[in-house]
Amino acid sequence: MNEVIICVGSSCHLKGSERVIEIFKEEIKKNNLNDIKISGSFCQGNCTEGVNIEINKQKIAAVNKENAREIFKKHLMHDQNE
Ligand code: FES
Repeated sequence: MNEVIICVGSSCHLKGSERVIEIFKEEIKKNNLNDIKISGSFCQGNCTEGVNIEINKQKIAAVNKENAREIFKKHLMHDQNE
């Protein structure tokens, strides 16, 4: 199971974390992935670099609607092909 935690604290929320969650959910559906769990977190303490997310404990900063799909593919679809 892959675990994605997306910050929905107020700063990351303002920077579009809800949209990042939507994009991740769209990708999960589109690619029929059922081993990814998405959850929200409170502030991850790195507001200036938001939106902050964690994928399997790896912290990734500056996620936005433009790069979310690319990040998803890089970190979550790689495993599928191994
Ligand atoms: S609100 Fe997301 S890191 Fe602070």
